[in-house]
This record gives sequence, C-alpha cells and structure tokens, in this order.
Amino acid sequence: MISARIKRQLETLDWDFSEHLQGTSKAIHWYPGTFPSEIPTTLIQALSVKGELVFDPYGGVGTTALEALRQGRKAWLVEANPVGCLIAYTACGLILLKSQEESIPSILFELLRTKITACINSSEVPDRIATDEHIPKISDRFLTQTVEPSPARFLRAQNREINWKSLENWIARETITDIRKLTDTLNSKSLGSFGQLLALTMISAVLRPASSQTQSWGHIADNVWPKKFEKKDFYKLCLNWLSRTEGIIKKTVIDNHPGKSQSGIVFWLSSHCWQKGKKPRVSPSVPASVLITSPPYAGAIDYTLSQRLSLYLLGYTEEEVKKLCGLEIGARRKRFLATSKNDWANDLVEALEQQASYMSEDGSFAFVLPHKDSGREIGPSNIEEFLDSKNCPKIMEIERSIIQGRARQSWTSIKKEIIQIYSY
Ligand SMILES: C[S@@+](CC[C@H](N)C(=O)[O-])C[C@H]1O[C@@H](n2cnc3c(N)ncnc32)[C@H](O)[C@@H]1O
Repeated sequence: MISARIKRQLETLDWDFSEHLQGTSKAIHWYPGTFPSEIPTTLIQALSVKGELVFDPYGGVGTTALEALRQGRKAWLVEANPVGCLIAYTACGLILLKSQEESIPSILFELLRTKITACINSSEVPDRIATDEHIPKISDRFLTQTVEPSPARFLRAQNREINWKSLENWIARETITDIRKLTDTLNSKSLGSFGQLLALTMISAVLRPASSQTQSWGHIADNVWPKKFEKKDFYKLCLNWLSRTEGIIKKTVIDNHPGKSQSGIVFWLSSHCWQKGKKPRVSPSVPASVLITSPPYAGAIDYTLSQRLSLYLLGYTEEEVKKLCGLEIGARRKRFLATSKNDWANDLVEALEQQASYMSEDGSFAFVLPHKDSGREIGPSNIEEFLDSKNCPKIMEIERSIIQGRARQSWTSIKKEIIQIYSY
C-alpha cells in the first residue's frame, strides 16, 4: 500500500518532465514511443524497494528495466519486437557490467573501435589485444550469472543470415560492401557473445543514417524506398556511435550496484508476444512487486515496420516482418478496422490477465496510457474495471503533457497521457 506522504509527493510532481534528459537505452538506438526515463525512475522509487522485482510487459528498448537495475531492483522485461529486445539487452548488459567494474564497457567499446579501424585501413585485425583479451570472457561469465538468457543463448537466437536483398532497397551498394566487411569482421569469437551483441546493436543503430532514405522514419515504416542512392561513411557512423554510447554509459549514475550487492539473476528478458496465448519462455522465479509499463496505443505506431532495416539485419524476411506487425497490439495498420479500438482494449486486458499472474499478491500496477482527449478512453477504463474485479483499486490518476519533441516523433495527434496507479 502506498503511503499518504508518497501519494502527495506523486501528486505534486511535474510529470511533463519538460527538463527531460535523454535516457540511456533510447539514446543508444532510436525507437518510437519511448517514455522519459524519469517516469519509471519515480514510480520505481515510490512503489518498490531495493531487491524487489520490477516487471515491464511492454518493455520497448528497456527504459523501465534499466532504471530498475540502476536503482538496485531486479527487472523483468517482455517485448515482442526483436529489435527492442536487442537494444534492451545491450543497454542493461552494459549497465550491469559497469556496476561490476567501471572500466569494462570502455574496454569493449575500444575492442570494437580497433576492429573498425582495421576495416578502414584494410589491415589485419589483431584477433586478441594483449591487455584486454580476457575482458569479453569476463563480461560473458558475469552476465551469464546475472542475466537470463545468457549472452551466448541470446546471441544464438539472433544468429540468422542477414537479409541483404531487402537492405539493398535502402542502402547504396558501396555502403552495403562496407557493412558486409564489418559484419564479417565483428562476427568474431574474440569479442565474446556480449561483445558481438554490442556490435550488432551498433550496426542496427546506424542503419537508418547509413540508408539513402533520409526523410523520416515514417517513410521507412511505410516502405517508401529512396529514389536516389548515396554512399554513406558507414565506418564513421559506427565510430561516432561508439563515442556517443561510451559517453552515455560513463555518465549513467548507478545508485546501487546491482551486480555487486545481489547474487544470482537480476535481469530477465523475454522475447515474447502476449497475443499468442502462450507463456513467456523466460520468466523469473520470484513474483513481481510492481508492474510499470507503457502499452502500445491503439492505431498509433507500427513498431515492427519502423524497425524494418534492423529486422533485415537480424535476418527477418518481408513476410516475417509483416507477420510480426500483425501480432502487435494496437498496430497502426489495424486502425481502419471498425472494431480496432475495442480490439486493442480487449487485447490489453486479456494480456493483463496473464501478466497479473506473475505479480505478488500485494503488488502494484502503474500504466502510462493515452488521455481521454485522444478518443481511446476504452483502454484505460477496461484496465480499471479488470483490476477492480481483482480487488486492486485505482489509487491515483495523473495527467501529463507529452513534450513537443516526443509528440512530433510520433504519428499520432496524442498530446496528453494519463498515469494510472493501482495498489492494494
Ligand atoms: C509504448 S512502447 C513501450 C516503450 C517503452 N516504455 C520504452 O520506453 O522503451 C510499447 C511496446 O509494446 C510492444 N508490443 C506491442 N504489441 C505487443 C505484444 N503483443 N506483446 C508484447 N509486446 C508488444 C511494442 O513492440 C512496443 O515496443
């Protein structure tokens, strides 16, 4: 139960977070519809204590999971989009490694930098760099003890043939040649499994600027191929990404060192779609104390299609990309169906019924949802009805405005959101 003092504090807070600073995971790879990290940070502090499990069933790129780990909680992220899963795995992995030993992420970045420089100079890549050769192994060992699935298992799941044929519709032939050279170089055991996942995240993040479709990500989602092809400096894009990401990780303050203070698994990631009626294959052995999430909004964004370049990198075919989009709750593609908003609200509640079974009996729930002004009030009201029937009443509802930058990034006219908190 949330205390009157914390409730008062939550009520007086500026939830617009107009002074918002970019959070870690979305800063390392663009992704639509992410929320400011201050939202989960605040809710985690108010609704859980250190060591407890925070659950985000629509985890996106891992904003909630990362904030939970940063604050010494355990985290469980479920996400249907393979690109979201990859970004979240890498971002949370880097934070856990930093919590173990401050210098490890920088050494991994340096190893990637060396391989890229060798590609630029067409020189032999030293397979092992004398002083750092043990770091990839140490990273994999540490993450195997703290993350489920282990880096080796997660990497195996990504290990498919790149769909070059589809990438060639977006990227100039000369740039593709550079990408091929680098992917061959980085597919190296000397980087360890996590190092290879970091490399995959880097390439995924720079595919959009490396492509010749520069108008907006909306064109990529809508499959509007570029008319003219232009060679991009792919290696420079990668080197810039490494410097920027290294800077972000260095700046990220870890309030509590989760890797050091807790033993065993502290982060679970399930690549799972709630629409399939199956249970997530990976799930924690302990119940979650709090569920904090921002579910997809009806008819707002096609997360899968927006990430199509990265999905081709992960080996997805056109058919598979389309199929993934069909399984997305509230996908924009479905907005023309007369029943789309009802279907979305029903899907959210059906999924919530499954999600609630992973919660502890006195757990709380916090949802970031579309404001009624957007005409989507059926979603929040169905959630309220369902949780009320489970004796979990709504204790707070807060309104917030989406700051301009974020509103412009989205395809919707949604300018306001609500945050609903339910607790026993
Ligand atoms: C609003 S975004 C969450 C963003 C997240 N809060 C962040 O900051 O990264 C909603 C997420 O729900 C995911 N999603 C949509 N349908 C899903 C489904 N059926 N099962 C699991 N995840 C789904 C989308 O891929 C998207 O990443």
